[in-house]
Amino acid sequence: MENNQRAQWGSNFGFLMAAVGSAVGLGNIWGFPYKLGANGGFAFLLIYLILVVVVGLATMLGELAIGRITGKSAVFAYRDLAKKWTFLGYAGVAAGFFILAFYSVIGGIVIRYMVSFLLEMFKSGAGFLGMGSGEYFGYFISNAGGSIFFHALFMAITILIVMGGVSGGIEKFCKFAMPALVVILLIVIIRSITLPGAGAGLAYIFKPNLEPLSTLSGFFSVLRTAAGQMFFSLSLGMGCMITYGSYLSKKENLMTNSIFICIADSTVALLAAIAIMPAVFAFGLEPGGGPGLLFVTLHEVFTSGMGGFVGSLFGFLFYLLVFFAAVTSSISLLEVCASFFIDKQQLEGKKADRKVISGIIGAIIFVVGIPVAMDGLGGGSIIKETFWFNKWGFIDFYDLISEGILMPLGAALMSVLIGWKLKTKIISDEVAASGKGIKLKAYKFWDICFRFVVPIGMLLVLWGQFLDFGLI
Ligand code: PHE
Repeated sequence: MENNQRAQWGSNFGFLMAAVGSAVGLGNIWGFPYKLGANGGFAFLLIYLILVVVVGLATMLGELAIGRITGKSAVFAYRDLAKKWTFLGYAGVAAGFFILAFYSVIGGIVIRYMVSFLLEMFKSGAGFLGMGSGEYFGYFISNAGGSIFFHALFMAITILIVMGGVSGGIEKFCKFAMPALVVILLIVIIRSITLPGAGAGLAYIFKPNLEPLSTLSGFFSVLRTAAGQMFFSLSLGMGCMITYGSYLSKKENLMTNSIFICIADSTVALLAAIAIMPAVFAFGLEPGGGPGLLFVTLHEVFTSGMGGFVGSLFGFLFYLLVFFAAVTSSISLLEVCASFFIDKQQLEGKKADRKVISGIIGAIIFVVGIPVAMDGLGGGSIIKETFWFNKWGFIDFYDLISEGILMPLGAALMSVLIGWKLKTKIISDEVAASGKGIKLKAYKFWDICFRFVVPIGMLLVLWGQFLDFGLI
């Protein structure tokens, strides 16, 4: 059916689950909880939420609207609106391509941990070979064959879902996975906050700590961290929401949908912090972020901390949750790439075979991800020492191209295009298409966001990324 007619979401709820699924990902789990605690607790939370409202929400609305106005995925959407800006669409496809290449390697490790905890439930030592958390993680990532195998498995799952189509694959999966994720998250939270000593973890994430904000440079550093986290977490700046918006019916309300996605993503990030940090502190472990938190510290929580069958059960549930979060994001990344080729074929009057296209693109991304898997997540390897960008491992390199440069630039230029060239009215007209428009006062708010706040916010992120990657 999708061959000659453009795909559409089956329902608004399905669209919301897919969009929230894209937003809720590894970023919410291994990024937000630690950044929240390390950058001022409640003070960080406030800054984060303000940024979501003044930068994230406008960008979300802008992207969804661009998709729906044109009814096309990123590249062709920009081409229709302003031919000279087509490169923004290509930048988005490239960003999605590189993010997925490393995201899938991590998704593979998540599958391995999920399976291992399942095995541990039945027989101690069956899953993690009797190794401790740090030892096992080191063993796993230095074993290229295993990493590549699980990377392939994760990618295969992603491809299969995208092959199923927009409503038959992506929407169907997300409609099941997202509610399941929330239920598991609540179960894990109950366990975590009822552990003796959990209070220290809650204090870590909630107690306002103005220390990191006390100097001007400190303040800017917190602002950069919050802004960077916010826009990656909301899947902005790379055409994902344009693509998802392009499958949305004109009768759905873009404004309430954008608000819902932003609230849901922030809520899940906060819930993840409440699920993770109390347990980390209850067992006297050091809080952290990134792969170290996800695969070492939390492994320790479930094995040495909780221990036994219950520990393995919660370990399994937790990694299942992370798996759902990762897959619902990875399919949106593949969809951005695949939809470009699907739309291209259709616009040229050819039959577009979604299955073939997603299979080929997915396979190419898999190959591009292999060095990340061989590289031990950048943990020091031949590759790292041989290539010219030896400062980073492949994962950092791909991350730099996508999250570091293409995404913030993409979001900044998108809002410049809307605010200065096309004018904000194009958005308010599109919002009005579903019946309810933007009231006059609110219009001023969005106009200021598109013209000034979003571009400045994104340049701040870009500057922060350059600093973080040691480029300046
Ligand atoms: N938002 C996802 C996360 O938090 C990552 C992502 C970025 C997914 C861009 C799709 C597009 O992990």
